[in-house]
This record gives sequence, structure tokens and C-alpha cells, in this order.
Amino acid sequence: MDTDEGRTSRIISTGNDELDKKMGGGIPLRSLTLVEGQPDSGKSVLTQQMVWGSLRNGLNAMVFTTENTTRSLVTQMQSLNLDILDYLLLSKLRIYPIDTKKTRRSLSGGLMPLLTSCADKGVDLAVIDSITYYVTHASIEEVLTFFEDCKVLCDRGLSIFCIAHSYAFDENVMVRLGSMCDAHLRLRIETMGSKMIKILEVAKVRGAMLKTGNIISFDVEPSWGIKVIPYSKAKA
Ligand SMILES: Nc1ncnc2c1ncn2[C@@H]1O[C@H](COP(=O)(O)OP(=O)(O)OP(=O)(O)O)[C@@H](O)[C@H]1O
Ligand SMILES: [Mg+2]
Repeated sequence: MDTDEGRTSRIISTGNDELDKKMGGGIPLRSLTLVEGQPDSGKSVLTQQMVWGSLRNGLNAMVFTTENTTRSLVTQMQSLNLDILDYLLLSKLRIYPIDTKKTRRSLSGGLMPLLTSCADKGVDLAVIDSITYYVTHASIEEVLTFFEDCKVLCDRGLSIFCIAHSYAFDENVMVRLGSMCDAHLRLRIETMGSKMIKILEVAKVRGAMLKTGNIISFDVEPSWGIKVIPYSKAKA
């Protein structure tokens, strides 16, 4: 919230300087960010670091998760050395597990009211991990309208991270969404020799302080999170 004394930052940081630099210096607040990639490519870990970095910078956050319960998300983040318990107790962070079998599936009737209530309450950062289920049950028009409506909420002060599996969109829709979003982060897994490495492509960060268009190779390490590996080393 703007009145929050602890707030020191106008960007969403990962809490990792090297990673932030490669992502154009961090994602500006009030951005709509699309994080997309194949399964296991690091979408959730990357976003969990952003949530952590934001909380540490005095922002407050709401995480909607179709993948975890509150307890399993806390444990998952603790395994990366991201202890969020204090933030939960202080209500700086709220976790809202969504059981897609029980709740409304539609983007407009199910998800948008939740995001709108975040904007109404002055939440700084809202994360949806993931929107895949909703997108696969929606028409192209509904998906585009959802992203347009997200942009309106960003103009009201909310930063939104939408996480999705790339297979949820056809190529044409992905191009249109990429142009609508303020930031577009694409993740994939590549095989290099006998190793599998994760690749983050910073396709776009509107309003970035530093150069974007970077390709970052990384691994996820216990108690550390995303560890950037030089591309040459990754290939070796
Ligand atoms: N604490 C940890 N220690 C080591 N590796 C971890 C840890 N937490 C997650 N990982 C690994 O990081 C990788 C990326 O996981 P992540 O959950 O971010 O993928 P994802 O893209 O969100 O996958 P999905 O599409 O299944 O949701 C996985 O290989 C996972 O095993
Ligand atoms: Mg995930």
C-alpha cells in the first residue's frame, strides 16, 4: 500500500541482484506479467522469489494457487530458504488455495472477482499460479478480455503475475498476450549433453531500467533457489 512505511521499492525484485539485473533491473510495479513455460521449468520457483523479494521490500502480496495448499506452499518456499511465516502472521502475505474442481472455472466469473478484490483492498502484488486450468476452459476472446481487465487493475495500482503452461495457448494468442503484457518471461528446459538446464528468456520488461532481452541459464538449488549459471558453463 502507498502508505506503507516499510515500502522502499518501486520494483518487484527477486531478492537476487544478479537475477534482477538480467531481468532489466526488476519488474516495475503496476505491471501485468506473464510467466509461461513448460512443466518443471521453474515458473513457480521464479515467482516465489518475486513474492519473497516484494515482501522484503515492504510490499504486500496475495498468492492464488491451484498447485498448493497454504501449508505445502509455506513448506515449498522454506525449502528454498524463503521463510514466509512471519509475513503470513502479519497478513502482509495472504495465500488463497483454489480447488479448481470446486470453484467456478471461468476467468471472468471465477478469477477476475478475486483480482478485483485485491485491487479494492490495496494489495500490491497478486500472483496466480497458475491460470492454465482457466485458460484451457476459456475461448480466445475470454482470455484476451481477462488480460485487458487485468491491465485495468494494474492501472489502479495492482501488480499481477499470471503463470501459465505454454501449451495452454496457441502461438497466435501467445503473441497477442505478449504484446498486451508489460512483462513477458518465458521459461524452458534444454538438454545440454547429459545435463538438463533451465532457461529464462526475458522477452520483455516495459519500463525496465536496464537492458532486457537476456537469456539466463539457471538451476534450482535447495536452500538457495535460482542459481544463475553462465551459459558457457552450462554448455560445457
Ligand atoms: N527446494 C528445492 N530444492 C531443489 N530443487 C527444487 C526445490 N524446489 C523446487 N525445485 C525444483 O525446481 C524445478 C522447478 O520447479 P517449479 O515448481 O518452479 O516448476 P514449474 O515450472 O512451476 O512446474 P509446473 O509446471 O509443474 O508447475 C523443479 O525441478 C523442482 O524440482
Ligand atoms: Mg508450478
